[in-house]
Amino acid sequence: MKKTQEFDHNASLEALVETGMLRLNSLHPGGLALTRELAELCYIQKGAKVLDVASGTGETACFFAERFAARAYGVDRSDQMIRRATAQAQARGLKVQFSKADAARLPFADGEFDAVTCECTLCFLEKAPVLNEMVRVVRPGGCIGIHDLCWQESAPNNLKLVLAEIEGEKPETLEGWGRLLGDAGLVQIKAIDKSTAMSRWMQDSKRQLGLLGQLQLAFRVIRRWGLSGLWKVLQSERVFSSKFLGYGIVIGTRP
Ligand SMILES: C[S@@+](CC[C@H](N)C(=O)[O-])C[C@H]1O[C@@H](n2cnc3c(N)ncnc32)[C@H](O)[C@@H]1O
Repeated sequence: MKKTQEFDHNASLEALVETGMLRLNSLHPGGLALTRELAELCYIQKGAKVLDVASGTGETACFFAERFAARAYGVDRSDQMIRRATAQAQARGLKVQFSKADAARLPFADGEFDAVTCECTLCFLEKAPVLNEMVRVVRPGGCIGIHDLCWQESAPNNLKLVLAEIEGEKPETLEGWGRLLGDAGLVQIKAIDKSTAMSRWMQDSKRQLGLLGQLQLAFRVIRRWGLSGLWKVLQSERVFSSKFLGYGIVIGTRP
């Protein structure tokens, strides 16, 4: 199997997103509109020191700096993402600092940030250790904001198994995410359903690719992972498009 970056992916939608095969900049449902809502809920404003955990292409941290004049930082485990994010900040003339780090071991002092965000990533990480780290580096009174995949209460187990097996993703329900933030010691927790962002994301991505683009993508998937890889991606796409998988923003404050 060919390696396109330092993490060798199995066939999955996440692999298409992370390897750039889907050519996205903002790697989550709702794009920058949802990031803006998250920023406002977390009171990100001029001069605020903000960390985006699992910062991907750097789009969000650059947005915090550009739109809100925040002092923005990003961490990601992938060298390739850090290079891409750093290049993007330089090209836009922004002083945003990106560093390679695991979300569960943030290279920052206690209480260093006014707000810490994590977009569309917690569902495939060990949630409690990462949330505890995010809480550790935010100051008392500061905000933690996430948005992520959310199961509907009625989601059948077979869909959960498909998502866990193919994507390694284990979403919570919206209330479940709220409980996890509470378990991490946060207060004033708000959970907002954003499931329409999910269905729109799937529809928009397909529309942008067009029929030809979708066929080309399918061939690229087959070339890289074989027919079984295409089967997995299609299975996963079925779960993402189902009414049982939604999306939500959850925020909390460190007391
Ligand atoms: C779905 S992308 C989301 C990127 C970005 N948050 C966004 O919404 O545009 C997931 C990102 O998490 C990063 N990642 C995965 N596991 C990580 C970990 N343990 N620590 C830090 N970053 C991680 C990946 O490299 C990738 O950039």
